[in-house]
Amino acid sequence: MRVLGIETSCDETAASVVALDGASAPEILSNIVLSQIEEHAAFGGVVPEIAARAHVEALDGIVEAALADSAVSLDEVDAVAATAGPGLVGGLIVGLMTAKAIAAAANKPLIAINHLEGHALTARLTDGLDFPYLLLLVSGGHTQIVAVRGVGDYQRWATTIDDALGEAFDKTAKMLGLPYPGGPNVEKAAASGDAGRFAFPRPMKGSAQPDFSFSGLKTAVRQAATAIAPLSDQDVADICASFQAAVADALGDRVGRALARFRKEFPDKASPALVVAGGVAANRTIKGTLEALCSEAGFAFVAPPQKLCTDNAAMIAWAGIERLRAGMAGENAAGFVPRSRWPLDSVSAPLVGSGRRGAKA
Ligand code: KG4
Ligand code: ZN
Repeated sequence: MRVLGIETSCDETAASVVALDGASAPEILSNIVLSQIEEHAAFGGVVPEIAARAHVEALDGIVEAALADSAVSLDEVDAVAATAGPGLVGGLIVGLMTAKAIAAAANKPLIAINHLEGHALTARLTDGLDFPYLLLLVSGGHTQIVAVRGVGDYQRWATTIDDALGEAFDKTAKMLGLPYPGGPNVEKAAASGDAGRFAFPRPMKGSAQPDFSFSGLKTAVRQAATAIAPLSDQDVADICASFQAAVADALGDRVGRALARFRKEFPDKASPALVVAGGVAANRTIKGTLEALCSEAGFAFVAPPQKLCTDNAAMIAWAGIERLRAGMAGENAAGFVPRSRWPLDSVSAPLVGSGRRGAKA
């Protein structure tokens, strides 16, 4: 089975070919990701119109490169899978329409993929994980804990009631005058900072409601920064370190709850695992906290390579393979309309304010 995947939901233009032959491990034959970070940096965030235009310009070449790299011709591909949501609608239209055209011209089935499903199933591509497992998705647009029970069978256990975690990093960076994207720069500055200097709040810590919140923390950072302005480099480093410590602490509390719930709901699961995905999973302080939490709770901690944690098309191609072999490739993908909002778990009601500002998935 070989599937061509296309991803254009935010600011990465990506294409990939993934293969699965019989019982052997799946293979990523090509994985091309073109980041638009430079195009958006001057604006301090992703500009949807710029993103859509950049996708239009780049996508043909990226698809060609992915096919060339994989040494698989379009004829040899079994299906074309494309992200159809959630995300920025301009980019989704570019990717899905391109995929529809390729599929129609090559007479191949088209599979419309939920971007979040791509993140959710990546650990099966990289680590061959069995269902069920727990997923923590922490990116610029999403902060969710999802019980991954099967292909197309996801249950959201927690989400953010305001900002996404990556968004909180990006906004904190902006307040402190650090360049975009904020996460890596906050982490870098924090390395030489004193995490004990500011006692920032740990939003939702200890709450019976399982969700996340980061806007109060962001406000506390702004107040602390304003109170001691102008900021020296050391002040910035101390704020970053204190912010990161608060985030790790709050996150650890929320994830700890979810691990306990997983144990209760899946008592027969012999070796439970927590999988992380999303750009924020690159943060070493956060990773360290989660690793310690997992080892204490008897969970395996699975962090796929960073290139497959952040947005890419291999995860989309892989989700296509999972759907194909489960007989769930969908009947009417050629008529599928891109969806800027598309919850992975249609049962869990959206929380007030959640994700409203988050363009990214
Ligand atoms: O998954 P991703 O590449 O794109 C989507 O949002 O879909 O995630 C990007 C987010 C940005 O908000 C970025 O600031 C954050 O991940 N990020 C980090 C780190 N690296 C990236 N946040 C904290 N620490 C990092 N090292
Ligand atoms: Zn994503």
